[in-house]
Amino acid sequence: MEKYIINGRNKLFGSVEIQTAKNSVLPILAAAVLTDEKVKILNTPRITDVRNMVKILTKLGCKAIYDGDDILIDSSCADCYEIPSELAHELRSSVFLLGSVISRFHTAKIAYPGGCDIGLRPVDLHLTGLKRLGVEITEANGYIICKCEKLRGNEIMLDCPSVGATENIMLAAVKAEGTTVIKNAAREPEIEDLQKFLNCLGAKVKGAGSSTVVIEGVKNLGGCEFLPISDRIEAGTFLVAAAMCGGEVQLNRASAENISSLLHKLRENGCKIHTNNDKIVLESNRRLTSVKSIETQPYPGFPTDLQAQMTALCCICHGQSIITENLFETRFKYVPELRKMGADVTVINRNAFVRGVEGFKGATVVAHDLRGGAALVLAALAAEGKSQILDVSHIDRGYASFEYKLRKLGGDIFRVSI
Ligand code: EPZ
Repeated sequence: MEKYIINGRNKLFGSVEIQTAKNSVLPILAAAVLTDEKVKILNTPRITDVRNMVKILTKLGCKAIYDGDDILIDSSCADCYEIPSELAHELRSSVFLLGSVISRFHTAKIAYPGGCDIGLRPVDLHLTGLKRLGVEITEANGYIICKCEKLRGNEIMLDCPSVGATENIMLAAVKAEGTTVIKNAAREPEIEDLQKFLNCLGAKVKGAGSSTVVIEGVKNLGGCEFLPISDRIEAGTFLVAAAMCGGEVQLNRASAENISSLLHKLRENGCKIHTNNDKIVLESNRRLTSVKSIETQPYPGFPTDLQAQMTALCCICHGQSIITENLFETRFKYVPELRKMGADVTVINRNAFVRGVEGFKGATVVAHDLRGGAALVLAALAAEGKSQILDVSHIDRGYASFEYKLRKLGGDIFRVSI
């Protein structure tokens, strides 16, 4: 196990290069299984989730190898339709592979991807959508087994704009016979990026980014080289770090448009923010004022993946805030850890009631999930004194070179094996 040791109160200055988006690379890797031609995904982040997806592709018989930070995939020799259970549990988003594997093999088997640290994470919308395309689904002994003679296009209405369900159905529909229309589709930028990648392979997808995505089935797909978008959640995490610690930080390769809901809140907190093309500069030089409320919503609303980071910021603002988590059932597991650092937060159901305090005090705390763990790092960087963050493997799932990037900005943070 590894931990971070952090000595707080350093202001942050300088610039940071934002990584390629984890939540774009993962469905794009799954999409690479659809074609027999070679695919190259450029500049991928060195994070656990991506490494695990590469392992799963390899288990399916694909050739998937790293060339520096690029990943080369050749799925022409894929010969297995069963997604290995130990990896499926490790990586929930392996469920995206159902659509691709069914499209290639007309059958698929995956261990039921159970809940995780942020909630139940059901897949009913994925399965309902696949059934509408002609897939027969049985669930037995903890496995989901899918079979279909032929995938046929259809109209699908999602009960809620699920990112994963939208992506899974897109992947299954790309080579189906006829046209598929997904209504109430998720609108995240990563969905638009997946559409761009699929069309780069020769697919006919349009409407991603809106609530209606239309996929016209094609017979064959080619290969391509593709650079996915930058990671809006990593970008938001660094902006909140700068806001909490004070100083002036510039993000390079960041999209202000993709995190406009966060920028709006940070300006309300009193941060000075300038944006120019793919650069965002945040300046914070005094105690911040709290925002009355933050409610997580599907895109373009406030992102649930930045909820923990913003709650940590609200804890040291002047005033009170209410943070409401509308997407996941248990995404406040980091709150007891913040309380060990002196935060005044009470969680009742999906609401966190925050009373701002002067500042955090260093403490030893435990990361329970990816974004909650990142929030604890930000709190420790802003805290008075020394902190230890245990079980940083959660953070390694989604942030590449996290401590290196923060050190480069002036943060006093080191990783130690225990
Ligand atoms: C994606 O997860 C992201 N993961 C999550 O990021 C992100 O928090 C989430 O979208 C919401 O933006 C990846 O893209 C790999 P959903 P996903 O399906 O697809 C309910 C991170 O930290 N739902 O949009 O699993 C579900 O319970 C991760 O990077 C159903 O009810 O999210 C939740 O309440 C965490 N039935 C809501 O929809 C279903 O079949 C949103 O889930 C599917 C989802």
